[in-house]
Amino acid sequence: MKILVINGPNLNMLGIREPEIYGSMTLKNIEEELVEYSKNFNGVELEFFQSNSEGEIIDKIQSSINNIQGIIINPAAFTHTSIAILDAIKAVKIPVVEVHLSNINSREDFRKTSFISQGAVGTVAGFKQNSYKMALFGLINYLNE
Ligand code: DQA
Repeated sequence: MKILVINGPNLNMLGIREPEIYGSMTLKNIEEELVEYSKNFNGVELEFFQSNSEGEIIDKIQSSINNIQGIIINPAAFTHTSIAILDAIKAVKIPVVEVHLSNINSREDFRKTSFISQGAVGTVAGFKQNSYKMALFGLINYLNE
């Protein structure tokens, strides 16, 4: 089972970006921790992709159609703006779990709207780097149902 983990804009800055909100781990640290965690499950392979560009994220989702069984995505600020990423998720029909390091529902009002949620099987938010592990657990169980 191959799972794609997509991270959106400014998440390449983790580690130095507002650590009080997003934690002090770099994206590379988070990805390495997730690879370790994935070893608890048989036959799970992870692929990672980060981009600051909406179009590149859409291209990556589209190109996953025949070779990826599930997607974990932290769309970052595109969460709150991108109907185009939502449409790409709906088009490929690959199960998606939405992830956020911070609890977007307890922050500014503009973060409380997620376009992506409408195309996701579930959302995990607020547990910093552990949100990704919880999302992987949920997605694997969903795919095995
Ligand atoms: C984020 C929350 C978004 O509102 C923000 O724009 C991000 C990161 C999170 O992981 O908490 O870039 O997706």
